Amino acid sequence: MALTVTPLDNVGVEVSGFDITQPIDDDLAAELVSLWNEHGILLFRGQDVTPENQIAFSRVFGELEIHPLSETRSQEYPELFTLVNDPEKEKYLVANYNGKPMAGKLDWHIDLHYTGKPNRGALLHGVVCAQEDGMTGFGDLAKAYDALDDDTKALLEKIEVTYTFSMQRRHMRYVDLEGYEPGAYSPRKPSDINYPNFPEVAYPAVVTHPVTGRKVLEVVEQFLERIIAPHRAGLSNDEAIELLERLVAHTRKPEFHYFHQWQPGDMVLWDNWRAMHCATGTKPGMQRVIHRTTIMGDATLGRVLEA
Ligand SMILES: [Fe+2]
Repeated sequence: MALTVTPLDNVGVEVSGFDITQPIDDDLAAELVSLWNEHGILLFRGQDVTPENQIAFSRVFGELEIHPLSETRSQEYPELFTLVNDPEKEKYLVANYNGKPMAGKLDWHIDLHYTGKPNRGALLHGVVCAQEDGMTGFGDLAKAYDALDDDTKALLEKIEVTYTFSMQRRHMRYVDLEGYEPGAYSPRKPSDINYPNFPEVAYPAVVTHPVTGRKVLEVVEQFLERIIAPHRAGLSNDEAIELLERLVAHTRKPEFHYFHQWQPGDMVLWDNWRAMHCATGTKPGMQRVIHRTTIMGDATLGRVLEA
């Protein structure tokens, strides 16, 4: 069966020409994996997706993770993580942006970046989609790296950056805080949502992708904290901050982004070792159901900094 591959805006591709309800043979599986490695972001549309075939399809790309929080895990399908707009819980996800309340808006991030061991990737399936807003953005950090000038590339080889988990957007140094006000129920510390306190983690500023060997710019706005000992790379502390500001601005360029507007049945698979993602959020009270499967990976990209 010949797959049809159509470029999305700027980054990623739409893949069609197969039927998810049919068994996926080795040749097709190899072709799908190779497209994932080549493009980092794959969109599938118009498939007849049930929980069973989402799980079977996701396994093509690797072993799946069981979500650690039992309350968000589907009892019937432990590999399936269901994101539902629950009116009771939604209030904790609401914050104000230029005076407008938005639920579930998320800055550019890499899943589990703050642990030092991000998962390999994930597949989202839109089951019930928001009537407006509710987009998911994907940003290709391999393309962002390729587009840097040679001097910056050489400098980044000498640098490690750190990430510090926080529940408070106002404490994040490199996110855009203009017009932002936390909501009345925004969590203030990790224990408010039963999270532990995560220690700071460090990554090389450029990570070589363990599977594809491509260089990936490991600079993402959410939780970004600092450059370790910048003087070792010939930078003053002020120059280190300016460099991170410049790199974050670089990753925000639309030429590295694809924003997906969800229709029921759409699936997006991304490589979490290469692509960052964000959520534009919805107005409070919007109905929404997303099924997520998570692909583990056996590489560790960062390291935990012990005191
Ligand atoms: Fe995420």
